[in-house]
Amino acid sequence: MAINFYDSIPSLFLLWLKKKQYRIKIKITVHVADFNNEDIIMKIIVTGGAGFIGSNFIFYEMKAHPEDTIICIDSLTYAGNLSTLEPVMKNDHFRFYRTDIRDRDAIYRIFEDEKPDIVVNFAAESHVDRSIENPTIFLETNIIGTSVLMDACRKYGIRRYHQVSTDEVYGDLPLDRPDLFFHEDTPIHTSSPYSTSKASADLLVMAYHRTYGLPVTISRCSNNYGPYQFPEKLIPLMIANALADKPLPVYGEGKNVRDWLYVEDHCKAIDLIIRKAGDGETYNIGGHNEMANIDIVKLICDYLDKPYSLIKHVEDRKGHDQRYAIDPTKIHNDLGWLPETKFADGIKKTIQWYLDNKKWWEDIISGDYMNYYEKMYGNRKVLS
Ligand code: NAD
Ligand code: DAU
Repeated sequence: MAINFYDSIPSLFLLWLKKKQYRIKIKITVHVADFNNEDIIMKIIVTGGAGFIGSNFIFYEMKAHPEDTIICIDSLTYAGNLSTLEPVMKNDHFRFYRTDIRDRDAIYRIFEDEKPDIVVNFAAESHVDRSIENPTIFLETNIIGTSVLMDACRKYGIRRYHQVSTDEVYGDLPLDRPDLFFHEDTPIHTSSPYSTSKASADLLVMAYHRTYGLPVTISRCSNNYGPYQFPEKLIPLMIANALADKPLPVYGEGKNVRDWLYVEDHCKAIDLIIRKAGDGETYNIGGHNEMANIDIVKLICDYLDKPYSLIKHVEDRKGHDQRYAIDPTKIHNDLGWLPETKFADGIKKTIQWYLDNKKWWEDIISGDYMNYYEKMYGNRKVLS
């Protein structure tokens, strides 16, 4: 029987459709196999988003990827400030949950309701001095909290779990060996309860990857500075004290070296990692910007036109790490990341931000923080 051309159109169309579907299928498979989370509209859980780096990350993401939705989970400890998130609170692509990452039931409920694609875990107890006073909460939040989040990822499925870690997991480098740097394979060798809790979390993240196949990444960044940093950390503390003509407490001789990175550059690096990096990868983030503490404090005095006589050398931090220095070659080669803000510009922008936003930090230091300050610095021996 002869087949009329017009009769065969539906079957030709079906064949074409089938081929098309096949091609679409292939495309999706390649997408996942390449770990390419680019160009996909995503729901991203950001824990610790009411803190310093988390809030900066939320602002960065919402500007760079307005089509994505950000779910912020934060228990609002002393370090979390909801007023920071005011500018995004009413955005349709943003939701906030006041929840503790250690609270398994509550975390599971959020995952069940929100079905996130990606989790970026910033939530942590982050201050070394506090960890020396009271290690327990550091172990609970930084280790147990991390495991609860990853269990939720296993239970509900996830494209990527990203752990925001720190260069402090590598311990410290000697001051007289400027040729040495932290690489991703530098052995973990911690000093403080804080860095030990972060290193433990990193080990757990890699264990979940190997044992359960959880798609994870880790970033280890050097010291951040910029807007919204809690004034217990070196740079904002010195700015706030200098503006009030209060003593500037430098631990020991002030020769310890930190490798400073403007917070937005850290956020850009994490954004690249969650969208482009392969599962199981660890990346160091830093901008080769090493400075001794005393030089930072003098620079802040100069900028604010305050005398160096405000500087007081006080009893050193216990177990004080000497020097941190990141080698960021891997993230540069793999993902093309480079820091964009030079320290000279970043520190000016930061000091100006604290001058322009006095209410933000004055509200903070007028509350419970004063009790902390009195406890940490009130009885500290002044050396010179
Ligand atoms: P931060 O102390 O300013 O903010 C931490 C946030 O986590 C706060 O909003 C706090 O309320 C929240 N949080 C604490 N415990 C919680 C819990 N149990 N459940 C839910 N939320 C909780 O910290 P940061 O300086 O923004 O650091 C963020 C992350 O980046 C941390 O994991 C830290 O280890 C890491 N990191 C910080 C730096 C730095 O220079 N600040 C550098 C490298 C890595
Ligand atoms: O390197 C990354 C780490 O940087 C992060 O993982 C931590 O969360 C973050 O707090 C930071 O840790 P540091 O201990 O390096 O930061 P901090 O601002 O507390 O101190 C910086 C340096 O300044 C350190 O050598 C101690 C010193 N210092 C600090 C304070 C608060 C002083 O001399 N006087 C101070 O009053």
